[in-house]
Amino acid sequence: MKYNSGDNTIRVKIPKKICAVKKTDGLDFVVSEDKREKPEPPALTKSVEAKIIDTVSKSGKPKKSDISHKSGSRNKVGAKTGLLHIAFIMDGNGRWAKSRRLPRAAGHREGLKTIEMAVKVAVAHGIPYLSFFAFSTENWKRPKAEVDSLMRLLKTRLPEMAKKLAKQGLKLRFCGDFSIFDEELKDILLSAQTWTESGVQSVERGVKAGGRWGMRESGVRTEELGVRAETKGVVNICLNYGGRQEIVNAVNMAVAAGKHVSESEFEGFLYTKGLPDPDLLIRTGGEKRISNFFLYQLCYTELYFSDKLWPEFSETDFEFAIDDFYKRNRRFGKL
Ligand code: FPP
Repeated sequence: MKYNSGDNTIRVKIPKKICAVKKTDGLDFVVSEDKREKPEPPALTKSVEAKIIDTVSKSGKPKKSDISHKSGSRNKVGAKTGLLHIAFIMDGNGRWAKSRRLPRAAGHREGLKTIEMAVKVAVAHGIPYLSFFAFSTENWKRPKAEVDSLMRLLKTRLPEMAKKLAKQGLKLRFCGDFSIFDEELKDILLSAQTWTESGVQSVERGVKAGGRWGMRESGVRTEELGVRAETKGVVNICLNYGGRQEIVNAVNMAVAAGKHVSESEFEGFLYTKGLPDPDLLIRTGGEKRISNFFLYQLCYTELYFSDKLWPEFSETDFEFAIDDFYKRNRRFGKL
């Protein structure tokens, strides 16, 4: 059921939930349970970092036959509802590489293929938000050679990743403290994010201008830009991200704003501003811990741990995790 609440917000009633779907500048849409649009944080800085943020198993081998999705559940936003955002801790790249006598960097490179697979499966299920923990505030403690190889991987692969995502109608955004990155990487983050933003916006402008799908104001067909005419979701990459660091940063912003803040105002100071809290966290690699990821946001997230190493986490494994999520009874403190 849909109704317009008169403030440019369409409120969508789904079982046991009210979700607000609102067009914003930074994101094509924001879906949040029982919440109004999150507040703007005070503009403390106009740095590139701020711009980057602002624009926008079980063990054992599951088989396909273990998965009980009905075919009708695919290709609908929020498919069976309640699964809007999946966050991933992509653990096991190093061990995957070591077991093949390869350098650890080869494991991270292979892990990129799993990210692509996860995006494909999420789009098929109509799950609009994905977050990937790609580099933590603690990962700087790794050997310099590995840190350097990860930075190189970001620089070389993010531009093509942005292009592929835009073609699928997906926006790219980043979460974390980017002040420590070199200018080259900051530029790449900003342009990768802006590229997917403007790609989709050019389609939206065309639609608004003349109601002609696939045309821009200039008359250039959007197919020439390689951009799809609808936004299917957001891929959020967490870089130099630490949950504690994020909370301390948000507290400092609240202090700078000089007032007591509500929960929803506080959430507007987090790097994840505009994203709904994850419904499901998947950690691969066999460890059962959170490792300073989304400490605030995981409040009511369902946790799923897989023994598979990230590069070998397959489509079937992911489908199995999604299926497991739908079997959970989420009560959010209620009976
Ligand atoms: C943890 O596994 C993984 C990381 C610290 C890095 C993950 C990064 C990627 C998959 C690449 C991201 C790149 C782009 C362009 C988005 P680990 O190395 O700690 O595994 P281990 O526990 O086996 O050592």
